[in-house]
Amino acid sequence: MAKPIFIINGPNLNLLGSREPEVYGTETLADLEQRCARKADALGLAVDFRQSNAEGELVAWIQEARSNGDGIIVNAGAYSHTSIAMLDALLACDVPVVEVHLSNIFTREPFRHHSYVSAAAKGVICGFGGLGYELAIEALASSISNA
Ligand code: DQA
Repeated sequence: MAKPIFIINGPNLNLLGSREPEVYGTETLADLEQRCARKADALGLAVDFRQSNAEGELVAWIQEARSNGDGIIVNAGAYSHTSIAMLDALLACDVPVVEVHLSNIFTREPFRHHSYVSAAAKGVICGFGGLGYELAIEALASSISNA
């Protein structure tokens, strides 16, 4: 039986809509969740959409996705740039991983140019706002159907 795609969002993404809208847009996390559910539904997939500000909880969810998910979309927020623990958890997963960032991290401060998460990702999408999550779902749908 098909398992859901886990969409795992890291710190401060609960503030979407009001947090630096000039960088992250005006879409809220709830809007983003709805958008992902619609896209997944159209492709015959299910999503499990989550957000946490706590690194340990994010690691636990990645471990859960390892056995209960068919793929992972991760926007680790600032932990992308610091968390070897999230990288290790993702490396332990056999399911495909797509990394997403709303903003284009490469046009921003130098400390955002490196992401630990990328080393575990099949691909990275950044700079397209919420559309990036839809593109990531499409990418996973094609990885899963070709597996
Ligand atoms: C982000 C980019 C990160 O550098 C930042 O810390 C975030 C959001 C993005 O989606 O553009 O919290 O991951």
